[in-house]
Amino acid sequence: MSWRATVLTLFPGMFPGPLGASLAGRGMERGLWSLEARDIREAATDRHRTVDDTPFGGGAGMVLRPDVVDAAVAAAMPEGDARPLVFLTPRGTPLRQSLVRDLAAGPGAVLLCGRYEGVDQRVVEARGMIEVSVGDYVLSGGEVAAMVLLDACVRLIPGVMGAAESAEEESFASGLLEYPHYTRPADWGGLRVPEVLLSGHHAEVARWRRAQSEAVTRERRPDLIQDGRVVPSPGAALHPAASPA
Ligand code: ADE
Repeated sequence: MSWRATVLTLFPGMFPGPLGASLAGRGMERGLWSLEARDIREAATDRHRTVDDTPFGGGAGMVLRPDVVDAAVAAAMPEGDARPLVFLTPRGTPLRQSLVRDLAAGPGAVLLCGRYEGVDQRVVEARGMIEVSVGDYVLSGGEVAAMVLLDACVRLIPGVMGAAESAEEESFASGLLEYPHYTRPADWGGLRVPEVLLSGHHAEVARWRRAQSEAVTRERRPDLIQDGRVVPSPGAALHPAASPA
């Protein structure tokens, strides 16, 4: 069975979007993964196909109804469907490579995209959804966030990426940001590539790259380093580490 993604959205026409192009698109064409976008509105039961209502307690915007969302989830996930259910929301735990890795290693994922003000919290909890944010900013809905999450997962599916070794060395694989890259010409209008990269000395190149990774991480992401060590990812995990007894 290939990796299977189902997206629950009010805008199914937004998919596959960019996921149909490049590496992800080719992987889909080759049957390495599949994507189904389902319209939440199909789960509405009234004549007007209502999916949302005003928030209890007042306030702006509309909230997706729990009964409609629950019916949409039930229709997308038959009994025994083992895929984790992820709700994309700016309230969620920040997305990290550790969760991406866990999801990519499983059977797939079902992603719920919010719109309007949000989703009734009762169905989020009753369905055991994993609430995930793709960053500290507010998008107009969960669709683009779902694409971000899927893109990150799909490229880890065996066979999707051509040069498999690049998945290992890149930013976050080691918990550090990546070192800078250079290619020809070695002298570009007087701007020269760092000499060590032209030396052919593999151990020195590796040492230089590691030092560059540490320096850029210290400068841009001090939160990833503590006492000179890489900090374990605090993001959402599918299988949170057991707390020590
Ligand atoms: N929906 C709106 N903003 C979002 C974000 N930052 N992450 C995930 N889902 C979202």
